[in-house]
Amino acid sequence: MAEKNKRLLHGLEQELRFLSEIGAEFIFAPEAKDKPQPGRQGAAEEPAAANTAPADTMRKPDKEKQRVLHALEEKILRCSLCPLSQGRTRAVPGEGDYYAPLMFVGEGPGADEDIQGRPFVGKAGQLLTRIIAAMNYRRQDVYITNVVKCRPPQNRTPVREEIEKCRPYLLAQIKSIAPRVIVCLGKVATDFFHPSAAGMSSLRGNFIEYGKILVMPTFHPSYLIRNEGNKEIKKLVWQDMQKVMDALGRK
Ligand code: URA
Ligand code: URA
Repeated sequence: MAEKNKRLLHGLEQELRFLSEIGAEFIFAPEAKDKPQPGRQGAAEEPAAANTAPADTMRKPDKEKQRVLHALEEKILRCSLCPLSQGRTRAVPGEGDYYAPLMFVGEGPGADEDIQGRPFVGKAGQLLTRIIAAMNYRRQDVYITNVVKCRPPQNRTPVREEIEKCRPYLLAQIKSIAPRVIVCLGKVATDFFHPSAAGMSSLRGNFIEYGKILVMPTFHPSYLIRNEGNKEIKKLVWQDMQKVMDALGRK
């Protein structure tokens, strides 16, 4: 009984922490001043401290993997396979730990990402960063990327041709990084792995098996921001992230 209470308390504590992490204070907060970034791979340049890094990110550097992923990034930066390349300031390959057990996949870069060349650095990105922190990871411990690597005009949803042309890049990133779990942020990312006519409300919260990888669809952070008064949606995202933490042995 005592054990059960402890677990309940722990769960409650985690939920409260999550809700306060991603809560209304954040959504109404002014744009956080971004620290100057030394380069495109800014987040990856902070080395994981050995004593705090999760066991599954401690490893010897794999030169071949680094070579493959760097070459892929260079290719993405120079890509002109679809018309999105003509409207971009910078392509956004993705960033984070090449050895991450956990990958987040969004839809495509927005205005801030297009300027900085980094994924999820605008308002939705700040919320994603908080969600990651609430999961007890640091942003640089995970890998973050998008289905399309260049910003669609006016942030419209990428069209089929753009997604198809960009597909090999994300597939190659997944193959190389080989995360254990992928979180799909919103419908475009979810459709990439599991195309369906179903909406996010019915897809979220249920793992999809993608080879050996567990794929968890959840709401996009922009959707949380658009519905910032709705605590239910935040709770659902937290439930989904708990399943992810469970699958990664993080609870
Ligand atoms: N929204 C996305 O889907 N991706 C980003 O990188 C930023 C916002
Ligand atoms: N529709 C989307 O595309 N994403 C969400 O997160 C919710 C609804």
